[in-house]
Amino acid sequence: MPTATLDGTDLHWRDAGRGTHAVLLLHAFPLHSGMWSRQIEALAHTHRVIAPDYRGLGGSAGSHEASTMALLAGDVRGLLAHLRIERAAVVGLSMGGYLALELWRQVPGLFTGLALCDTKAGADTAEGAAGRETFAKAALAQGLHWVADQMAPKLLKPSPDAAALAEVRTLIGACTPVGVAAAQRGMALRPDSTPTLGTITCPTLVVVGAEDGLTPPAEAEKLAAGIRGARLARIAGAGHLSNLEQPAAFNKVLTGFVAGLAE
Ligand code: MLT
Repeated sequence: MPTATLDGTDLHWRDAGRGTHAVLLLHAFPLHSGMWSRQIEALAHTHRVIAPDYRGLGGSAGSHEASTMALLAGDVRGLLAHLRIERAAVVGLSMGGYLALELWRQVPGLFTGLALCDTKAGADTAEGAAGRETFAKAALAQGLHWVADQMAPKLLKPSPDAAALAEVRTLIGACTPVGVAAAQRGMALRPDSTPTLGTITCPTLVVVGAEDGLTPPAEAEKLAAGIRGARLARIAGAGHLSNLEQPAAFNKVLTGFVAGLAE
């Protein structure tokens, strides 16, 4: 799996498939690009698929600087420039959706299409942001096992499959406490993207797990209602990580969406 030093930071990404049509997969918190393994496999038959790890998560180097969406968008743009990719379908799940909306603000010309999965547009409340700071400090003090105890059950449907739970814990275990804290602090600083929704002009798909407790279907409905022409797909039998819990249903919706996009 490739790594490059871009703007002074060692970034790691997954790179699969080939061709002129690219798909950019932006992962959730506190995970890394490995959460997309089944989507990478499905999409790579027809597309070049790029899935970066954010700073301090997965194989990318971390620092104590807050991983704001603006900072991470700069990393992604640097990576795409390094790979000479000028256009892509951008797919973001949860934190990846926050990042996709920041990318839209910065570089709308990149987008052949946008898929917002299990995510929302709003900023944190003051209470939510304070909770992230408490979480960041605890992650630094207590480590990834604690992070997995806190997060893994929330990322999955109630009474999740044991294999899915184990997979999510393994994904979390490949991050770093510094990266987890930086991501929490960065998400706390993210702006309200609600005004951005009305500016989106590319084909857009909104996906939500029917049992998503973190960004419930009502959030997905708000997203879809705010974006002109957006299509909403519900994935039955899935919680927040709808791509991981129901990969066949998720892949059907996603591959159908990207197949219909112009270059
Ligand atoms: C995620 O899955 O990326 C997180 O739940 C996002 C968040 O903490 O807001």
